[in-house]
Amino acid sequence: MRADLEIGGARVSSPIWLAPLAGVTTRTFRDFHKKLGAALVHTEMISAVGLSYKNKRTRRLIGDEGEGGPIALQLFSPDAASLAKGAAIALGLRRFDALEINMACPMPKVAKKGSGASLLGRPDVAGEMVSALKPFGLPAWVKMRILDQASAAASSATERFCETILAAGADLVMIHGRTAAQRYEGAADKEKVREVATLFPGRVAASGDYYAPEDAALYLDGGCVAVLAARGVLRDEFLIPKTLRALGYETPRNLTDPTAGDVANAIVALGREGLENEGERFTLVLVKRMLAGLFKGFPGAAVIRADCAACRDWASLEETLLRVDLHPSCLQQ
Ligand SMILES: Cc1cc2nc3c(=O)[nH]c(=O)nc-3n(C[C@H](O)[C@H](O)[C@H](O)COP(=O)(O)O)c2cc1C
Repeated sequence: MRADLEIGGARVSSPIWLAPLAGVTTRTFRDFHKKLGAALVHTEMISAVGLSYKNKRTRRLIGDEGEGGPIALQLFSPDAASLAKGAAIALGLRRFDALEINMACPMPKVAKKGSGASLLGRPDVAGEMVSALKPFGLPAWVKMRILDQASAAASSATERFCETILAAGADLVMIHGRTAAQRYEGAADKEKVREVATLFPGRVAASGDYYAPEDAALYLDGGCVAVLAARGVLRDEFLIPKTLRALGYETPRNLTDPTAGDVANAIVALGREGLENEGERFTLVLVKRMLAGLFKGFPGAAVIRADCAACRDWASLEETLLRVDLHPSCLQQ
């Protein structure tokens, strides 16, 4: 058993965390990855302004007090006043372990309204937003992108932005190693994230192209204090336990070397919880989004995936998954 770590003001069992993923990191997905070992999970980005307008859907994204384990609330907002108002409303609804500002989302519907990655161009406002979170007494975090480094003058823009938000009181900065212009394309610049982490020891967590345990190890060896699992867990739902084992944490075998039956059982459990929490439509979409990575390496995986993809309701998808152990090609494994 290892002692808890303190990272960015939060107590966590390891540096391997679940990233915020809009439309994915719902209560069910968060619970699923907590069981698999994620030491901290994120809500998806939630509109601070939407919370003030008592928007029902926005409030549902907050989840409820019954949810255990370390969790960070991620908010997006164009200014400090609406951010503070939204944070106060959210904390009136439930407990969170950290408050995080999204300064990373490049999508026009967010960035064009002055939130997300557009804040990278307004460091003064970004700093004010961090300061506005401090009175809540929780760790104040920022998730950002690396800035454009095309010219020599711009080569340290990421460092300067980090300096501003850390000086404003941010306890941790999560850096996604792509520029906003890259959106989700091209390779993440892991070297740049490691460089910035070296400059601000203990204050930088990493995001970008974490698909295998070695990717997380590279970030951690480079001075990052935590690593966020994002699309990697959609390709391999057991990425977090596999990473924990590679880092020397004790991890049950059925999580690090799952049989086809272990995989099927895990997804069935996720689906059953999803039915309760988010309903059948969402659950089907979520599980089908994970299909490409399911049963990787097992003979007959393509057939099982195709059978699952053809299911039109949860009952038949569950039945297909539960038949997996009996699937002759799986028995060869
Ligand atoms: C579908 C999807 C939704 C995302 N939603 C959010 C979000 O709500 N907040 C946020 O800060 N980042 C969001 N991200 C970015 C991820 O958290 C992560 O930083 C990014 O995908 C880079 O990691 P990866 O290359 O390992 O996927 C999202 C990414 C994807 C693919």
